[in-house]
Amino acid sequence: MGRFKVAVIEGDGIGPEVCRAACEVLEKTGEIFGHEFEFNKALAGGIAIDETGECLPEATVNLCRASDSVLLGAVGGPKWDDLSGEARPETALLGLREELGLYANLRPATIHMALKNACPLKEEIIGDGIDILIVRELTGGIYFGEKGWKGSKNGMKAYDVESYSEAEVKRIAIRAFDSAMKRQKRVVSVDKANVMESSRLWRRVVTEVSHDYPEVELTHMYVDNAAMQLIKDPRQFDVMVTSNIFGDILSDEASMITGSIGLLPSASLGEGSFGMYEPIHGSAPDIAGQNTANPIAAILSSAMMLRHSFGLIEEARCIENAVTKVLELGYRTYDIKDSYKIIKSEEGRESVTSMIMGCKEMGSLITNMIQAENKVFANNTSF
Ligand code: IPM
Ligand code: MN
Repeated sequence: MGRFKVAVIEGDGIGPEVCRAACEVLEKTGEIFGHEFEFNKALAGGIAIDETGECLPEATVNLCRASDSVLLGAVGGPKWDDLSGEARPETALLGLREELGLYANLRPATIHMALKNACPLKEEIIGDGIDILIVRELTGGIYFGEKGWKGSKNGMKAYDVESYSEAEVKRIAIRAFDSAMKRQKRVVSVDKANVMESSRLWRRVVTEVSHDYPEVELTHMYVDNAAMQLIKDPRQFDVMVTSNIFGDILSDEASMITGSIGLLPSASLGEGSFGMYEPIHGSAPDIAGQNTANPIAAILSSAMMLRHSFGLIEEARCIENAVTKVLELGYRTYDIKDSYKIIKSEEGRESVTSMIMGCKEMGSLITNMIQAENKVFANNTSF
């Protein structure tokens, strides 16, 4: 039995609706397993700019520091697109990652077999499914390097510097190898060492770290090739470890293989158990407030929170199983509405069905499924 303080940063666009669904799921899971979650809301992103004049108010960072974990929806939107660099809502996200020391971003990409036909790849390529963990470095590289504008004889020149220190590469590599030890023991390190000095250092350090993990098979791959291999043969990958910007791009690509970016969760971790959990999708301003978003990525992010920050493995599995079950039953959100459930009659005739749910309804369905699947357990505890 535990008590956990969770800072909730709903943010912009569809952030609030998907966070509400994730909190409902956490509440129910807590109720069944006897844990209490204290949710405290904080502002970041566009809404924070509107309400406080700053994209990341100090109060938000302080609340996160005083919490056991953070659940984040999404930030950004067209309303704030004209703001310059530092003033943009996205700066809040980068600020949170940096301030909270969250250098390791875990982005698992797995296919739910019920959604196999939402995957744009041929059936023979996906086979019996993919299960990739992208380990993205999150507080270094080009995102945080020196940047600016300056005059030159050819007009203005703008620059962003990609640089990595040995220590930064070492700690993310250790994360990747530790993760691989719990999986299929294969790491692909993605870089651009045929062109970039920072990648040459990256490759050297990752290779050094690999010597401490003799059971793990390490392969190096250039990022352009990795982008191609993800489409050509995604099943070759177990853990992929890469820099901030390459991880940003490759994780969007990997998400599409799973059917929809609306399905993928992420965890951003530092040294201790504290973490920030967020769907990898953005704020999707075009569908915000219409109850058509997919809350599954946020809900699966809350499962990652239980696992990584609170060590509640059984509870995390319970949420993940409920998601799988609801998808198997044919319930869909709009982003995956074309992935029908195929029903075979006794005579072998195939028909399709899918029930399209709103964001709120999908959240409640998953919550109810958690309740239903744990009836026995819930009853037992009352004895
Ligand atoms: C992500 C997002 C962010 C990033 C943006 C919103 C700053 O795309 O989390 O992948 O580039 O890291
Ligand atoms: Mn991204």
